[in-house]
Amino acid sequence: MEKNIPKSILITGGAGFIGSHVVRRFVAQYSNYKIVNLDALTYAGNLENLKDVQNTANYSFVKGDITDTDFINDLFSRNKFDGVIHLAAESHVDRSISDPLSFVRTNVLGTVNLLNASLELAKNNPNFLFYHISTDEVYGSLGEKGLFKENTPYNPNSPYSASKASSDHFVRAYGETYKLPYIISNCSNNYGPNQFPEKLIPLFIHNIIQNKPLPVYGDGNYTRDWLYVKDHAEAIDLVFHQGKKGETYNIGGFNEWKNIDLTRLLCRLMDKKLNRAEGTSEKLITFVKDRPGHDLRYAIDASKINKELGWEPSVTFEEGLEQTIDWYFENKDWLGHVTSGDYLEYYKKQYQE
Ligand code: NAD
Ligand code: TYD
Repeated sequence: MEKNIPKSILITGGAGFIGSHVVRRFVAQYSNYKIVNLDALTYAGNLENLKDVQNTANYSFVKGDITDTDFINDLFSRNKFDGVIHLAAESHVDRSISDPLSFVRTNVLGTVNLLNASLELAKNNPNFLFYHISTDEVYGSLGEKGLFKENTPYNPNSPYSASKASSDHFVRAYGETYKLPYIISNCSNNYGPNQFPEKLIPLFIHNIIQNKPLPVYGDGNYTRDWLYVKDHAEAIDLVFHQGKKGETYNIGGFNEWKNIDLTRLLCRLMDKKLNRAEGTSEKLITFVKDRPGHDLRYAIDASKINKELGWEPSVTFEEGLEQTIDWYFENKDWLGHVTSGDYLEYYKKQYQE
């Protein structure tokens, strides 16, 4: 199997949800690497996510915006990265519906800036790798049956998925046109510690704690395939080190849930955790207006990464959810900090139904 053993790695978006788990994993596993975390610290990025690694010798943080071409070129000329793991992005579908341009800026232009800067490094380093982290949402929506495979045609439906699809295409195009060594992985919905409480699971945990309504879009019969974030970080580690250049890997949890069933499970677990009578949290469920262009179902066929790299999820959904709930209980300060600022403003708009 092809092995890539780099020394200096740039991780973009490392202060965000998935990025912070990837940074923590790499800092802990590879003491001989130099890990540079580049993040603009938007509303979704928070250095509190990395408190435990901030003073580690093989780790450093750079605040900066991937859309700033001069800044990126300068950073790359001063650091001879052997690899880039690119996670920085605008990541929330609902925000992409109200502000598509910022998704084009960060997800498309930002990615192209990184690709351009990477070309120079790849010229002088045959082991260079640009590893692009993407989503299964680029494939569009499944009906009741079927799974997304690596060769499923792209058919994005939201501004978010359209911007991620575009960035995936640019990565592939740089591979074809300029021979930039790359890998792309497309993953299903992640959940776990450090996720900003605007996505379904952390938002509903937050609202149950606060006794606020749980806004289920439409009839709740939409399906997502959920993966614990630490299992995604492990998959990223494997793909980065052992994946085949020029290939795509689909990563998923083999774990499909309808939103309404997941919400009810979460309510039951939270009632126990909060010593509330069974059924208390379910009363918070409120069906609200559907998301425009709402994709019915996502589900990943992860057999390629399973067969080729031996990866599979390590925790069951019940275990992962319990660990996630425990984390939010133990980190109420974190929740308080990230929900200050523009959070309330944003959610006033969301809860108008
Ligand atoms: P996130 O929103 O939690 O974090 C994104 C990070 O990127 C933040 O730290 C933010 O500050 C940073 N960032 C945003 N714009 C930037 C810019 N212009 N310059 C530099 N940094 C910037 O996102 P996430 O959920 O951790 O997702 C990370 C990546 O994984 C994204 O590329 C996303 O598309 C992909 N992904 C996410 C999921 C999921 O379920 N969350 C699933 C599959 C793939
Ligand atoms: P989300 O966590 O935003 O991830 P994505 O849209 O990228 O899949 O949403 C997961 C599912 O939950 C999706 O079908 C939309 C739905 N949803 C709600 O019903 N209510 C909510 O408040 C949110 C944020 C999402």
